[in-house]
Amino acid sequence: MKTKVLFVCLGNICRSPTAEAVLRKMLQDRGLTHLVDVDSAGTGNWHAGSPPDERAVAAAQARGYDMAGLKARQIEENDYRHFDLILAMDRSNVSHMRRSCTNGTAGKIGLVLEYAQHSPLSEVPDPYYGEGDGFELVLDLLEDACDCLIERICAAPNVKRIGS
Ligand code: 4NP
Repeated sequence: MKTKVLFVCLGNICRSPTAEAVLRKMLQDRGLTHLVDVDSAGTGNWHAGSPPDERAVAAAQARGYDMAGLKARQIEENDYRHFDLILAMDRSNVSHMRRSCTNGTAGKIGLVLEYAQHSPLSEVPDPYYGEGDGFELVLDLLEDACDCLIERICAAPNVKRIGS
């Protein structure tokens, strides 16, 4: 059984689609695509149907990650049942999801940086309104977290809870 991972941010145009692209490429490079299904969504719906932010696309592309074809969507009720790990970029995303998730699914929700091993931060800062470097930091943090997430999934392929 594949572990189904959903990355979540606010708009689903900067941080969570970047996480999706990073994890997908790392899985491909390691021959591990059979272990994980990956998707992303936003808690908000303002950008639904839009492609990722072009600054995020450019920063990701420079490191070899492909965000072509991704389109923003808002998280839906069924996502809480369908996915095994629902990994948020910041605490405000976590609070939103804990309020709206279905019964028995709150244990799947946590911060993506719980998986990071080298980060002093616990949240991925929102780069949307900031200057250029924000997107580099997003990539640094998410590369760290995705690397460790893959190790954890390899060690326990049917991981169903944050921290397990
Ligand atoms: P994201 O960034 O949550 O990483 O996709 C944002 C994108 C859009 C907005 C805020 C954050 N916005 O306010 O439109």
